[in-house]
Amino acid sequence: MSLQLSSPSMQRVLVVGSTGQLGTALCHLLGEKALPAARRQLSPEIIPLDLELLAATPSAAAELVAQYQPTAILCAAGATDVERCEADQSWAAAANHLGPLALANAAKDVPFVFLSTDYVFDGHDGPYAEDAPAVPLSVYGRTKLEGEQAILAAHPNSLVLRTTTVYGPDPQGKNFLYTLRRVLTAGNTMRVPTDQLATPTYNEDLAKATLQLLAQRATGIVHVAGPDFLSRYDFSLLACEILKLPTENLQALTTPELKQNAARPLRGGLKIEKLLSMLGENPMRSAAEGIRSWSRIEQA
Ligand SMILES: NC(=O)c1ccc[n+]([C@@H]2O[C@H](COP(=O)([O-])OP(=O)(O)OC[C@H]3O[C@@H](n4cnc5c(N)ncnc54)[C@H](OP(=O)(O)O)[C@@H]3O)[C@@H](O)[C@H]2O)c1
Repeated sequence: MSLQLSSPSMQRVLVVGSTGQLGTALCHLLGEKALPAARRQLSPEIIPLDLELLAATPSAAAELVAQYQPTAILCAAGATDVERCEADQSWAAAANHLGPLALANAAKDVPFVFLSTDYVFDGHDGPYAEDAPAVPLSVYGRTKLEGEQAILAAHPNSLVLRTTTVYGPDPQGKNFLYTLRRVLTAGNTMRVPTDQLATPTYNEDLAKATLQLLAQRATGIVHVAGPDFLSRYDFSLLACEILKLPTENLQALTTPELKQNAARPLRGGLKIEKLLSMLGENPMRSAAEGIRSWSRIEQA
């Protein structure tokens, strides 16, 4: 897939959440055109940007936009710890709704992309198309949906990208593949649900599709996800096979047995027909291809 990095909106792209897995992939693709921004200033070129502060003081968002004059904003940050969101609802509201909204309000003349989730759905009959009714089950899902609706209403050129079960290279080593490898290699038990289904998404494909849609000046809601619909347990088995990890300590459980605080959509996942018709090609690799790509990068 070709990336049109020369388009006017691509000249100074503020990547909010540049320390996250998607933010890292976006900055990598954008190169010098990225203005990396993050809550923690892990390196000097990172612009300090805390969505909780922007939620509390929206004028700070206007000051930041005036100072850096981005030609587009990609909000890849968020309160992504679904369990913590149940207990820390002010963090969830600030990072998933009010902080991104403050930024969107401060930058109405440039494209604004907001990352959202299949957790806006109840999981009764996924994978979901863009026009399916949203019925979130958790604080994470509800605050993301509130963010979507507020930003679409406030910003004339906003694009909401819903994704799910994102994995791939991650400098922080936080996503599911890293946990699976770490736990099983250490000989510990990895508890995995058999009844939570989704469409796992390779983070580099998500980043490329995001920039392609930005270059097209796409607006509205678009689903960006992988092509395979499978359970977390089947994804784990596939990863174990490809990565040659031992499976004796992979424990198959149902969601009630896991006793998670946040309710999960069981049949989640996202349909991507709209994405494919907009891009004219399929940039999203299969779960097996994604796990193999990750493995190659980890071994390099
Ligand atoms: N990962 C998934 O499976 C998944 C699924 C569906 C949707 N999404 C959405 O896709 C986007 C990218 O996800 P990801 O997997 O790349 O997330 P990630 O790796 O967990 O990174 C999240 C980023 O958000 C930042 N952040 C958290 N609180 C913040 C705050 N108050 N102010 C500024 N930044 C803050 C984090 O910074 P710190 O590192 O400093 O905390 C980090 O850079 C998110 O909006 C997420 O909700 C992800």
